[in-house]
Amino acid sequence: MAKRCKGFLFWAGLVCLGFTQADTHTFTTHTQDQKTIVRVKIFDANPNILRAFANSDISVTVTVANSDIPAISKLSAAVSWVANNILHFYPTAKIPRIAVGNEVIATADKTLIAHLLFAMKSLHAALNLAEISSIQVSTPHSLGILSISDRVIFAPILEFHRQTNTPLMACPYPFFGFTLNTLDYALFKPNGGDFDHATGMNYTNMFDAQLDAIYSVMKRLGYDDVDGGGGGHTHTAHTKPSSLFSR
Ligand SMILES: *[C@@H]1O[C@H](CO)[C@@H](O)[C@H](O)[C@H]1NC(C)=O
Repeated sequence: MAKRCKGFLFWAGLVCLGFTQADTHTFTTHTQDQKTIVRVKIFDANPNILRAFANSDISVTVTVANSDIPAISKLSAAVSWVANNILHFYPTAKIPRIAVGNEVIATADKTLIAHLLFAMKSLHAALNLAEISSIQVSTPHSLGILSISDRVIFAPILEFHRQTNTPLMACPYPFFGFTLNTLDYALFKPNGGDFDHATGMNYTNMFDAQLDAIYSVMKRLGYDDVDGGGGGHTHTAHTKPSSLFSR
């Protein structure tokens, strides 16, 4: 199964998959039998996976590798990327979204960060040229955006989301942030809660608090209208994906 599955929990029902090659067939076969999984996100645009999900009801968010971002910032390369990675499989495979890189800002790689928004814009333009309007372009952020978020890097990305009506993606990782004292809080188990005096919200799990922290940053930058959900889902700060933690 997923050997390096990273949590991407912004949407209820979304499963993030990292594969080794040998896992691909087993997992996609297995996944298609599980009717409760409605969306997956893969960390590349692996053609075997996209082929495996053809004609299924499960939608697959594909990812542009971080290393491809500088090239893709040029329209011609974005057009090729869409031709090679999307047009062969879409719409037979449901592809609602392309994630441009993964936690690019957290890499602190100046070249990648400088090209990120241009890559998003080029991909969006390339999709338009291919007359595809239903695939959204976004980029997943780590919670690091909470501390470094600013008007220079983050606000223009939010502006892109506003202009293109696409959602912000974020990876809250509640299970990475816990300590012994906050384990129940991280795992959606009964706990004493965490009262936020600034907002009067009493958070009973870390996931809600993390999503609202992201939302607060968006609001401070003037972009609280940007969708924090996606694919028709809105901000899910009060969803409890408890089933993810059933073990
Ligand atoms: C917050 O919720 C928890 C869990 O329901 C509760 O134990 C705690 O008293 C609440 N705190 C406040 C300040 O309302």
